[in-house]
Amino acid sequence: MISGRGSNLVALHEAILAGKVAAEIVLVLSSNPDAQGLQYAAAHNIPTAWLEKEQLVSEAVLAPALLAHLQRSGAQLIVLAGFLKKIPPQVIDAFPNKILNVHPALLPSFGGKGMYGRHVHAAVLAYGCKITGVTVHIVTNEYDAGPPVLQECVAVHADDTPESLAARVLAHEHRLLPRAVDLFARHRIRIAGRNVVVLEENAR
Ligand code: GRF
Repeated sequence: MISGRGSNLVALHEAILAGKVAAEIVLVLSSNPDAQGLQYAAAHNIPTAWLEKEQLVSEAVLAPALLAHLQRSGAQLIVLAGFLKKIPPQVIDAFPNKILNVHPALLPSFGGKGMYGRHVHAAVLAYGCKITGVTVHIVTNEYDAGPPVLQECVAVHADDTPESLAARVLAHEHRLLPRAVDLFARHRIRIAGRNVVVLEENAR
């Protein structure tokens, strides 16, 4: 599920094509009909769908719309790759422990409402952090607060701008998200409460 550029979608798709991820993308669902990522998906024969503005106005209308698309697609794992809308509880309940999100910081720092895109990296720099990173986590009802599946550190440089830091972090996202999807696809993940155990590191 995407809302914009879709570079994580591209990274995931390329990793699948390269045989590094044992999965198939059955649908790219966007919260925005103009998302760049939709064009990439269509050009690569990946089924696409998007939500209309009226479907985004409340959880009461968003939840059934999302469920209809997701259930029809047959998706077994849902990946939020820059999807900016909060996932309604009904959708989380329908896919327990099957929704992943990639966040461009080391959660629980620099997460939560309003912490997306440039805001995250600007906040990391404003705090004076020396290290930031990437978190792939399971989505729960609390924004950016589900248990981490994989995390990776990224160094902050003294001369970083939010843009330069975002670019360095993004390169790590592009590796970590496909790895997490592959672990799920190969049933290499065991979840006990907040403890997500990787049964075997992806050696591929
Ligand atoms: C990424 O930085 C991701 O961590 C965040 O939104 C951004 C999406 O970028 N959740 P893209 O659309 O995958 O290029």
